[in-house]
Amino acid sequence: MHSSPPRAEASDCCRPWATKSGGEKSDGTIENAPEIGIILGTGLGGLANAIENQTIFEYKDIPGFPVSTVEGHAGRLIFGTLGGKKVVAMQGRFHFYEGWTPQQVVFPVRVMWAMGVHTVFVSNAAGGVNPDFRTGDIMVIDDHINLIPNPLVGPNDASIGPRFPDMHGCYDPELRALADKIAAQEGIRIRHGVYVGGTGPTFETQAEYRYFRAIGGDAAGMSTTPEVIAARHAGMRVFGASVITNVGLSYEAGDHEDVQKQGAAAGKKMTTLFTKIIEKI
Ligand code: HPA
Repeated sequence: MHSSPPRAEASDCCRPWATKSGGEKSDGTIENAPEIGIILGTGLGGLANAIENQTIFEYKDIPGFPVSTVEGHAGRLIFGTLGGKKVVAMQGRFHFYEGWTPQQVVFPVRVMWAMGVHTVFVSNAAGGVNPDFRTGDIMVIDDHINLIPNPLVGPNDASIGPRFPDMHGCYDPELRALADKIAAQEGIRIRHGVYVGGTGPTFETQAEYRYFRAIGGDAAGMSTTPEVIAARHAGMRVFGASVITNVGLSYEAGDHEDVQKQGAAAGKKMTTLFTKIIEKI
């Protein structure tokens, strides 16, 4: 009745499915399997350029990969080095609101795990519901509230992780502390808070923003929580940050173009923050 969640075997995941060459060994595996995975959401687009020794695969050339439909989201998997670490970065992610199943949304995270990634970095755009937040702020995600259907619903693949994963310390406390230290050194002001992942694609009503605040949220978004759940299920460490692109509890209308503009503006700070953390771990 049910089929198992997509599971990529480590041996499959290291194969160059695509035709691009460079960085591949003669046995067909990628040289330098990555240890760090990065999901380049809003604000981290520039980080792609900082990755050295790139080998790039288009999602459309990778069997099993969904292909993003959202404007502003490319669809490429970039292998290389950043801050002296071997990384794989997803340029373009998958959202539940596009119509992908929660399992499809997290498929790339499982591919990262199968390749040997131990820490996942994730960024996103979010609407501030904490009244102290301002447009352009960067919020380190301390915790989340997931309102998107859970990607672990269905038969559990025990070879990936447990049936009932613990979610304490979901966003790695050491990495959050490191972010504070680096932000102070670099003169970057960061906020901390709880990210509420909703399905979208509508921006929230005023009542819904108030509800997100009332249940303990600081920022509202439409991504991230499924990928983080899948990463934690597989035992990977997680660091996440949001660019606050709009302030929900105001009369500003939600606007996708504005979200992209604000994301780009905060991007430089986000890129510095992420690169320095990766350097230090
Ligand atoms: N709500 C949900 N997702 C978002 C928002 C918002 O206000 N801003 C950017 N992404």
